[in-house]
Amino acid sequence: MKSSGSLTSSQNIFVVDFGSQTAHLITRRLKDLGIESELIDPDRAYQKSLLEKPAGIIFSGGPASVYEKKALIISPKIFDLKIPILGICYGWQLMAYLLKGRVESGNKEYGPTILKISNFKDIFYGLSTETKVIESHGDTVVKVPSGFEITASTETVKYAAVANENKQFYGVQFHPEAYHTKNGAEMLKNFATRVCGLALKPQKLDVGEIIKEIKEKVGNKKVIGAFSGGTDSLVAGMLVTKAIGRNFLPFFVDNGLMREETLTRIKRDFPKILGVEIKIIHARPAFLKVLKGIKDPEKKRKAIGKLYIELFEKEIKNKAQVKYLLQGTTYADFIHSQGSRRSAHIKSHHNVGGLPKDMKLKLLEPLRFFYTDEVRKIGMSLGLPKDAVFQQPFPGPGHAVRIVGEVTKERLAKQVQADGIVIEELKKAGWYKKVFQCWTIMTGVNSTAVKGDGRFYGEVVAVRILNSKDRMSAEPVELPYKILTRIASRIVNEVPDVSRVVYDVTSKPPATMEWE
Ligand code: XMP
Repeated sequence: MKSSGSLTSSQNIFVVDFGSQTAHLITRRLKDLGIESELIDPDRAYQKSLLEKPAGIIFSGGPASVYEKKALIISPKIFDLKIPILGICYGWQLMAYLLKGRVESGNKEYGPTILKISNFKDIFYGLSTETKVIESHGDTVVKVPSGFEITASTETVKYAAVANENKQFYGVQFHPEAYHTKNGAEMLKNFATRVCGLALKPQKLDVGEIIKEIKEKVGNKKVIGAFSGGTDSLVAGMLVTKAIGRNFLPFFVDNGLMREETLTRIKRDFPKILGVEIKIIHARPAFLKVLKGIKDPEKKRKAIGKLYIELFEKEIKNKAQVKYLLQGTTYADFIHSQGSRRSAHIKSHHNVGGLPKDMKLKLLEPLRFFYTDEVRKIGMSLGLPKDAVFQQPFPGPGHAVRIVGEVTKERLAKQVQADGIVIEELKKAGWYKKVFQCWTIMTGVNSTAVKGDGRFYGEVVAVRILNSKDRMSAEPVELPYKILTRIASRIVNEVPDVSRVVYDVTSKPPATMEWE
């Protein structure tokens, strides 16, 4: 991963990527702590470690079970290198398996749980006895290899954390890299500093360097940019404007799937902020038409992505100098869409996985290596307004992936109205800025209600309000009950054909943030 720096000495950590959705987050956390690291493949991990002698090695989690044929394995010779190793989830199971312990399926745990620490040396140094951790596993270790001792347990997992202090091998069943593991960064820091002996050298985000890279890549070619109204495309657009000025041609496709205020904001505020004109492409009916009859979320994403590109290509037909399409893809978008080389496919985000294969333009993605919080830092240092930089993330396919089943004009109108009520009520109650994302979902489920004198059968609307730092894990917001019931009452009373409102209290993992 670019942002984790280059390797020339043993002042770094190798993170072996066994395909977990959060493998790259380990390098991200280490980077934040000021530790250099590199994400590497299991098949070259031993050779590379032998040659480059990193100060430590972390085995990431992974989707497989160690007994599966497709499981990614590592050369057991890696344990003879006298390099400290921390195994996370699958990484720990693999370590146990290769060192002659036993792993079994069962004892599944997904989501937050309490870890009880019994040994405060090394990894858990300075922590309190109980701490919240994120688990996401199907298998567990049932017999530890010789030399290992328990350092922490959860209610259902005995070997939730173990250590072989002599060899400096450590295993944790949970994910310290997930933001919602409360002291996860502290644990990784302890591994890096106390076990591997590394010093922390935090680095600053270099925005000037990002602009310089864009300038060098693009030269005097022209770039078109797809604004969504959101932070990512705004920050990406600002970077490109700074790099190439009027050679940047921004567009906004009014697809009708965005939040109401988006078009207003784009028309009124963006030209002032960026100092360049933005062309609006009016395409609401065209998007409804391509979505007609489609129920599958992946097909929706692809249909929207395809129409986007067709519209762009139509726009630039006579502009031969346009060579690049700017996308505000962040690292989390990219991971969710394609995964690290090894990870399981979850969803195709339209701005990455959904693009047509024969697209004539090259992609320019200056934020591809950054997470939301880093993108916001870049935005602030570019002088963008705080409101625009700290607005909620909104998915590219917008309301289309928040309407389960077919997107019709009527259901879209209901979604826009209900979603607007949630935002309005949170703003009124002073909660809007405290949450990461909030929205409604047209669930596609009908239930009975009585309105006036009559009984009717109408759609159930779900409300989802989440806190998250980097979208890789998220927790439902404990909104005061009064506000929740007010939202519910307004939605059932004001939005036509809605029978009831439910609040989604599921964390990520295991659920994704969006329903589709
Ligand atoms: P999930 O649902 O994967 O969402 O937990 C993680 C974050 O990504 C956003 N999201 C999308 N963004 N195109 C996007 O640009 C998409 O297709 C898409 N699907 C989900 C989601 O809102 C959350 O912030």
